[in-house]
Amino acid sequence: MVQQVNVGIVGLGNIGTGTMTILAENAAQIDLKLGFPLRVKAVCDLLIDTKPVPDALGPVFKTKDWRELVNHPEVDIVVELVGGTTVAADVINSAIAAKKSVVTANKELMALCGAEIWERAIAAGTNIAMEASVAGGIPIHAVLREGISGDRVVALYGILNGTSNYILTEMEMHGAALETVLAEAQRLGYAEANPSADIDGFDARSKLAILSALAFGEKITPSDIFTEGIRRISQTDFQYAQRLGQTIRLLCAARQTPEGLILSVRPAMIPSTTILASVKSSYNAVWVKGVYGEDTFYYGRGAGPRPTGVAVVSDLMRVGREILRGSPLRVSPFAHERLGEYNPIPVTRQKRAYYLRFRVTDRPGIISALAGILAAKHISLDAVLQLPCDNKRDLPFAITLEPTTEEAVRQAVEGMSQLDFLLEPPLALPMEPPL
Ligand SMILES: NC(=O)c1ccc[n+]([C@@H]2O[C@H](COP(=O)([O-])OP(=O)(O)OC[C@H]3O[C@@H](n4cnc5c(N)ncnc54)[C@H](OP(=O)(O)O)[C@@H]3O)[C@@H](O)[C@H]2O)c1
Repeated sequence: MVQQVNVGIVGLGNIGTGTMTILAENAAQIDLKLGFPLRVKAVCDLLIDTKPVPDALGPVFKTKDWRELVNHPEVDIVVELVGGTTVAADVINSAIAAKKSVVTANKELMALCGAEIWERAIAAGTNIAMEASVAGGIPIHAVLREGISGDRVVALYGILNGTSNYILTEMEMHGAALETVLAEAQRLGYAEANPSADIDGFDARSKLAILSALAFGEKITPSDIFTEGIRRISQTDFQYAQRLGQTIRLLCAARQTPEGLILSVRPAMIPSTTILASVKSSYNAVWVKGVYGEDTFYYGRGAGPRPTGVAVVSDLMRVGREILRGSPLRVSPFAHERLGEYNPIPVTRQKRAYYLRFRVTDRPGIISALAGILAAKHISLDAVLQLPCDNKRDLPFAITLEPTTEEAVRQAVEGMSQLDFLLEPPLALPMEPPL
């Protein structure tokens, strides 16, 4: 008898549609690779009557009510592609309670309560797969859980938000202002009407929480991660970056230090020669450093129906294979309690060189006032940079600092913010050493 595994998909938006397309168009290949077919048995969406389902999928049960799909007796795997943390959590928890495996693309939910969901799934003897939740088309979960799982990760860097990377690289390449690029990205549908999750770093933070949990086997939550978005980055910063042989990226970083793990999502100066600087437009990348295997680098599309759909379908194939062929004892990727070694510690303990950018009303004595505050915090000034500017009422310039702690820089910036010649608080960006 030919066995098959049946799939039910909840949420036929961008990723649901991409997933159905791949399952329909690539069915023969998938069947050959698996040795059995994956069948879409049921689909669910609030506006189900308006959502086209490919004819090649054959007869499919359609419903507006996700409970009908989850409880459908022939559905073996529930695919959650609704997003958010409310309905999606109900769908996933109900599927686990019904002893069905789950495939999800939901970074927000898995970052927030992935550990609990995994524990429930393991107790119920079902499987969870979440490759699509981070970096769309890059199979980074498989890399961390299988490909390099024999290594001991010491650092992980990522460019994990396509929208902010698109904005920054457009600013870098075309000299445009952030607001102009953002408006254009919104017009083209690359950025949401409310872009906060992307440009304030929250989307990237969810992804880093998941990746660092996988890389370090630690229960990382979004609140462990210092997060700062790209709103304050200006064209001036790119001009100074270029002078310094650097560029600016929204860098997600998880680094092991002797005291613990430092986690951050923030705009940072990175050397133009580093491979991360060549990650442009909406592409994503992850760089992992291990004790034994040293550096490995992964690059690809971070989003979009087709790349993300590939991740969902590949998860379905793996989970389907485990359902039919039996699966080994499962261990949660958020496995350990706090181990100490990878215990998150505040980013203020990080030591880096820094770039400080000022906008001032010009007058004598500005540099000495700033230098005095730096000296009081035992911070050594590296260089002062000033590009030509005629507007003495709004004059930008930059100072670079020798490596110092983030804590000292924050105190200095706070002290400087009181100075009356400043038009806004100084912008401080860490300058990453060559990665
Ligand atoms: N977009 C990407 O490139 C990307 C990449 C990686 C991961 N993801 C993740 O993938 C997931 C889906 O994202 P998406 O871009 O496909 O979102 P989307 O286009 O907004 O699709 C979500 C779908 O869920 C449906 N839905 C909402 N509430 C529902 C309910 N109660 N019952 C049934 N269906 C419901 C919506 O229906 P209506 O529209 O009919 O209301 C919509 O069709 C999210 O977790 C997202 O973070 C997305």
